[in-house]
Amino acid sequence: MQEEINSQEKKKKELEQREENIKKNMEKIKHKIVVISGKGGVGKTTVAVNLAISLASVGLRVGILDVDITGPNVLKMLGVNPELKPRVDPGENKFYPVIGPLNMKVMSMAFLTQNSDDPVIWRGPMKMGAVRQFLGDAIWGELDYLVCDLPPGTSDETLDILQLIPDENVVVVSTPQEVALMDARKTIKMSQIMKRNVLGIIENMSGFTCPKCGEFIEIFGSGGAEKAVRDFGIILLGRIPFETEIGQQGDRGVPFTIKYPESESSKAFKATINKIRELLEKK
Ligand SMILES: Nc1ncnc2c1ncn2[C@@H]1O[C@H](COP(=O)(O)OP(=O)(O)OP(=O)(O)O)[C@@H](O)[C@H]1O
Ligand SMILES: [Mg+2]
Repeated sequence: MQEEINSQEKKKKELEQREENIKKNMEKIKHKIVVISGKGGVGKTTVAVNLAISLASVGLRVGILDVDITGPNVLKMLGVNPELKPRVDPGENKFYPVIGPLNMKVMSMAFLTQNSDDPVIWRGPMKMGAVRQFLGDAIWGELDYLVCDLPPGTSDETLDILQLIPDENVVVVSTPQEVALMDARKTIKMSQIMKRNVLGIIENMSGFTCPKCGEFIEIFGSGGAEKAVRDFGIILLGRIPFETEIGQQGDRGVPFTIKYPESESSKAFKATINKIRELLEKK
């Protein structure tokens, strides 16, 4: 009985310590951006990776956290080797995120699932509170931006992130399809109920220009993002067209904004980032 009480007290202390670590870590990061959507496959990871890389390419100190615990894609799209391991600080039982392109600090479950022989500190997150460990036990240091790529919908990880970073800025990604917007509206509502700052919505795969005849085709319809903007009092941050190169570059691990800086989608993306920076940095 006494043993059980002691172990519960120990757990409670650990949880309190971790919450404290998260608070201290987050205080050192100026802007936290959470990329969220209702529906899967709408382009969250593409947006998160290109957002992070664009911010880092102008000399800002950037971290990117892959919060998709079961389907982590950030390393693949960033071209970071998942066999690299975050360095452990044994004294403090903490770890350093891996340094990725443009000096970005990168953390993802994909680093931790390569080998079941990895130390306990890596197996731990799989069993309990991975998001809490990523936020609290990683040594992020001073950053201008932390970009978090979330899984679709209102999973545990999404709720954890929304709860644990009170001053975060939510960027909602949706395609123009009604089913995607329906789900996006739910996540906007959830974020607003939790009193989080919803920065705005990015409409991705927003039309396609035929490379052969030049005709612009609204493959997934139009108008839904504007309606969400009106209904929830948020901002339309940008529209990224559908371009085959975006998918190809994602698979190759080279962000399209780096590979094709002059493409329509890169220009649209850069305008979106400028809007986000303006909103956050003028505050
Ligand atoms: N504007 C675009 N044009 C063409 N392809 C795109 C565009 N945006 C994303 N893609 C491609 O669509 C696929 C899904 O994108 P991504 O993985 O970023 O979506 P996601 O919302 O993160 O998905 P999940 O919900 O599974 O995490 C990827 O192959 C990506 O390269
Ligand atoms: Mg994703």
